Amino acid sequence: MIADGPARTTWGATFATLIATAASLVVWHFVTPKLIPLRIVEGPMVQAVTATGFELVWYTTDATDCKVEIDPKADVRPSRDGRRHRAVCSNLPAGQAVAYSVQTVGGRVLSASEVVLPSDTDGAMSFIVFGDSGKGTREQYRLAQAMGEWKPDFYVHTGDVVYGSGERAKYASRFFAPYASELARRPFWPSLGNHDLPNVSAYHEVFELPENGPTGLPAERNYWFDAGPCRFVVIDTTSVEDDEDSTLANSIAPWARDVLSEPGPQWRFCVFHHPPFTGGKYEENVRIQETLVPVFEETGVDIVFNGHDHMYQRMRPLRAGTVTTRDEGGVVYVITGAGGARLYEPRDAAPAYVAKMNHAVHSFTLIKIADDTLTLYQLDADGNTLDEWSCTVRTTRRTTTAPAED
Ligand SMILES: [Fe+2]
Repeated sequence: MIADGPARTTWGATFATLIATAASLVVWHFVTPKLIPLRIVEGPMVQAVTATGFELVWYTTDATDCKVEIDPKADVRPSRDGRRHRAVCSNLPAGQAVAYSVQTVGGRVLSASEVVLPSDTDGAMSFIVFGDSGKGTREQYRLAQAMGEWKPDFYVHTGDVVYGSGERAKYASRFFAPYASELARRPFWPSLGNHDLPNVSAYHEVFELPENGPTGLPAERNYWFDAGPCRFVVIDTTSVEDDEDSTLANSIAPWARDVLSEPGPQWRFCVFHHPPFTGGKYEENVRIQETLVPVFEETGVDIVFNGHDHMYQRMRPLRAGTVTTRDEGGVVYVITGAGGARLYEPRDAAPAYVAKMNHAVHSFTLIKIADDTLTLYQLDADGNTLDEWSCTVRTTRRTTTAPAED
């Protein structure tokens, strides 16, 4: 009888330990998440703004439903895929400020901000273009702060959104965090850089972009949108790094020609990563010169915005590789790749077509349009103006009528 005592004690202790472990697992799985308040860890981010609507994207700590309240009241369609939330807000009055709040289903406000919808009748607008930003550097964060102070209507990115390889896990500190307050109130239009390509599924997961690119290619990598008097054509040039890939010539260039030839917008801009013309670290990109540049010249594109070379460059108006004037159909190319990553040194003496270059300081491009005049400012984080240039709207441009429906 005495010999049985310790054995019963051991089994009893083991049983008690199992019960305690099971209980703690139950608490950890089912109780603790309810004690830690739900919060937003990425976003909200404004996407797909039109005159009468916009979308919001955000990610929460847990896979739990949220709701969105907007003022003025209109249609809100929320949806959720795990921790990722999306809300489509529509039927809003053009040109109005729309206050919104993201809330728990119980009504606790997780985030609140305001989106100003564009107005067709408003003649003045501004936007900021930058690229090669996503390193999480002090310079990236300083530029983000400085850009927000200009209160642009929206942002356009020339690629390399997240270094080193567009990893989803790095979006938090290299994209969402630096631009948090601006993403919540102003649209952000990205393009793909070579560093975003290895994990391109992250780009597709995060952004909600127009699906109006070339037939047969993955959606959202090439797209266009209109903003006020401007048309933007965003192009994926990452295929140029594969010598065998003919996508640019066979699919993207014909599509871009069609989109840029449509009548209507006063101003036309193209946005992509690899610069066809540069006096920077990289050589000129001959394949883009052969495939896309003739399209820009035919259709009278006003400015082509690029990145990839980590510096600022503005070229004189170019046509057929020769410096000319805008009146003679010259296209202006701007490289704005000084958005946060380490700056590059130029390779040698700058080509004659380079009107302005700055590789000494991180910077971004602010475009202001008022009536028929566009003014470009290249600015650093301290508010210094590195370059200033302006032009008036083109009086002639090759356009087609809208294609007939068949
Ligand atoms: Fe790049």
